Amino acid sequence: MWVYLITLLAIPHHALGANPGLESVITQKALEYAKHVGASLAQEKLGGLTIPDMTGSISISPFGKVDYSVSGMHVVNFNLPEPVVGFAEEAGIKIGISGMNVAINGNWRDHYQLIRDSGSFDLAVYELAVSVLVGVGSDSTGRLTLSSTNCDASVGDLEVTFHGGTSWLYNIFKKIIQGLVHEQLNSKLCPMLSEYIDGLEPLLQKINVSYQYDPYVVFEFPLIHPPAIGASNMEFDCKGEFYSVEHRGEFPFTPEQFQLHDQNRMVSVGLSQSSANSAGFAYHSAGVLRIRLTDSMIPKVSPIRLNTTSFESFIPELPKRYPGMLMLVDLFTSQQPLITFQPDNVTAQAFGAAKVYVILPNATLAPVFVLDICASFSAKLFMSDLKLTGFMTLNNVSLNLASSELGPFQTKSMENVIRAGIRLAVLPEVNAKLKRGIPLPATPEVSLVNPVLKVNQGFVMLATDVSYSP
Ligand SMILES: *[C@@H]1O[C@H](CO)[C@@H](O)[C@H](O)[C@H]1NC(C)=O
Ligand SMILES: *[C@@H]1O[C@H](CO)[C@@H](O)[C@H](O)[C@H]1NC(C)=O
Ligand SMILES: *[C@@H]1O[C@H](CO)[C@@H](O)[C@H](O)[C@H]1NC(C)=O
Ligand SMILES: *[C@@H]1O[C@H](CO)[C@@H](O)[C@H](O)[C@H]1NC(C)=O
Ligand SMILES: *[C@@H]1O[C@H](CO)[C@@H](O)[C@H](O)[C@H]1NC(C)=O
Repeated sequence: MWVYLITLLAIPHHALGANPGLESVITQKALEYAKHVGASLAQEKLGGLTIPDMTGSISISPFGKVDYSVSGMHVVNFNLPEPVVGFAEEAGIKIGISGMNVAINGNWRDHYQLIRDSGSFDLAVYELAVSVLVGVGSDSTGRLTLSSTNCDASVGDLEVTFHGGTSWLYNIFKKIIQGLVHEQLNSKLCPMLSEYIDGLEPLLQKINVSYQYDPYVVFEFPLIHPPAIGASNMEFDCKGEFYSVEHRGEFPFTPEQFQLHDQNRMVSVGLSQSSANSAGFAYHSAGVLRIRLTDSMIPKVSPIRLNTTSFESFIPELPKRYPGMLMLVDLFTSQQPLITFQPDNVTAQAFGAAKVYVILPNATLAPVFVLDICASFSAKLFMSDLKLTGFMTLNNVSLNLASSELGPFQTKSMENVIRAGIRLAVLPEVNAKLKRGIPLPATPEVSLVNPVLKVNQGFVMLATDVSYSP
C-alpha cells in the first residue's frame, strides 16, 4: 500500500497522461506586448527611485580621518533601452536590459577636523545592465508560481560632478561616491528585483483557480502540472472541469488531447469537448434542467394549447376521458446532454422526458402519459464585435411513448408539431439572442483585440490579442 502511494506521488502529474480540459498558450507576441507595458511601468518605478543615505568615515593620507555623509540621492533622468524578453525552455522567462544610463542627483557633506563642508553632486551611471531569469512553475494548489532564479547586474562607468563646497575635497569624494554607488547598484539591484518578483507571490496566491459560474455550477481550472515552456511559447494545462455545487458527482472526465497552434495572436485558449460535457453533467446532476410547462407559457400564436380539447387530434381518448380540462407538462433531462465539437459545428443532443398531466377541476394532477424525448441541435459560433454570436438549427426531435394511462397511441403527428413549434417559435427567439451576442469577459484594464473563435474536432479555441491600459 505504502509503496504504491509513494510510487504514485513520485510520478509527475503529466506522466500519468491526464489531458487538460482547458489549455492556454501565450506566445512571443504576448511577451513583446508585456514588455512594452512593463517598460512604461518600470519607467514610473525608476523615476521615483531613491537611494538610501550613506554615512561613514574614511582615512585619507596625509589628512587622516574624514567623516562624510551622502544624502537625498534620487534619480533625475534615465533612459530605458528596449528590454530583451524571451522564453527560456523548460525554465521560465528571461528578461535583459543593457545600455541603461541613469542621472542621479544628491547632497554631500563632510567633516574633517575643524572643516565642515557641503554641496550637491550630479552622478551619471553609464552602461547599467541587468538580466534575470524568472522561473515559472506551479504549486500544489495548481496556482502559478514565479521566482527570480538567475540574476546578474553590472555597472559600466560612473562620473561625478560637484557643486559648491571646497574643491580640494572633490577628488577624495569622487572616489568615495563612485565606490558607494557602484557597490550599491551591483549588490542591490538583484535583491531588489528578487524582492519585487517574490512580492508577486501573494497576488498569485489570490488568483482563483475556480469560478462559481452560477448558484448551481462551479468551474475548476487549476494547473495540472507546471507550465510547459518551449522556445517560442508557454503552455498552461488546466483541469477545466465543471461541477455541480450540491451534487459533486464524479463525471468520467477524460479530456481529448488537443493542440493549440495560433502563433499569430498573443493568447489562445482551448476548451475540450469533455469540459463542455462536464458542464452538461453538472447541470443535469444539479437537477436544474427541468421546467414545468403550463398553458399560459405557450405562445399566444400557437394553435395547439395545453388542454385536452386541443390534444384530440393526437389522442382521441384524452378529451373523452377528461373533457375541456387544462394540462401541464413536467419536462426534464433524463440523462446528461451530449455536446460534440466538429470543425465549424457544435452539436448538442438532449435526452429528456415529458410527464404529462391533466389538471382536474379540484386541482389534482392526473398523470396521463410519459414521453421520452430526444432532440439534436447544431450551432455555428462566430466572433463579432467582441461578442460570441451564433446560429442554431434543429437537426431532429423524436418522441417515444414511455408509458400511458390511456392505452397506446401514435406519437408521429405530435413529433411533427413539436418540430414545427421549435423551428417557428423557439429557435427564432434563441437565434435573436445569439445574434445579439454574449460579451466576452473583460475588465476595465484588460480588453481583447481581434479575437477569433474556431470550433475544431474535439475542442473549441479562442485566439486573441490583448490590450492593457492601467
Ligand atoms: C475568488 O473567489 C472568491 C470566493 O468564491 C470570491 O469571493 C472572489 O471574488 C473571487 N475573486 C475573483 C478575483 O474572482
Ligand atoms: C383549448 O384549446 C383550444 C385550441 O386548440 C381553444 O380554442 C380552447 O379555448 C381551449 N380551451 C380551454 C379550456 O382553454
Ligand atoms: C453538424 O453535425 C451534426 C452531427 O454530425 C450534423 O447532423 C449536422 O448536419 C451538422 N451541421 C452542419 C451545419 O454541418
Ligand atoms: C379530485 O377529483 C378526483 C376525481 O374526481 C378524485 O379522484 C380525487 O380524489 C379528488 N382529489 C381531492 C384532493 O379532492
Ligand atoms: C429523426 O429521428 C427519427 C426517430 O429517431 C428518425 O426516424 C428520423 O430518420 C430522423 N430524421 C432525421 C432527418 O434525422
